[in-house]
Amino acid sequence: MSLLDAARAVRENAYAPYSHFKVGAAVRSASGEIYSGCNVENVAYPEGTCAEAGAIAAMVAAGESELVEVCVIADAATPVTPCGGCRQKMAEFGRGNVPITMATVDGASTEITLADLLPGAFTAAHMEGK
Ligand code: THU
Repeated sequence: MSLLDAARAVRENAYAPYSHFKVGAAVRSASGEIYSGCNVENVAYPEGTCAEAGAIAAMVAAGESELVEVCVIADAATPVTPCGGCRQKMAEFGRGNVPITMATVDGASTEITLADLLPGAFTAAHMEGK
């Protein structure tokens, strides 16, 4: 299964009764395995989690800590870009050259690297040397 197919499939399971905006995400880990996640909302709105966060959590739960490719899909007019928090979450586990494909269920897609999505990322290096 392709990363896009995995993201499209898991999107069907999204729990989005408040926004009605279902999102699916899939990450490929360094081992080549695919992990997927969907957004899971909550009546206490800030407690909801994004699709990307779910996919990353699945990867880490399986014992892996490096992602090499990401795909996000939603039913939107144009491809949806990951939120700021998810950009930081991806940066925790992926290098700057990681390609992120953003797709719509209608077939549009665009690609960007993690470094371009999160320029000036806060990293562990900022906490060293002082
Ligand atoms: N959402 C994601 O899951 N990923 C994104 O990249 C953008 C936004 C979710 C969060 C919330 O459940 C819904 O989409 C509307 O913001």
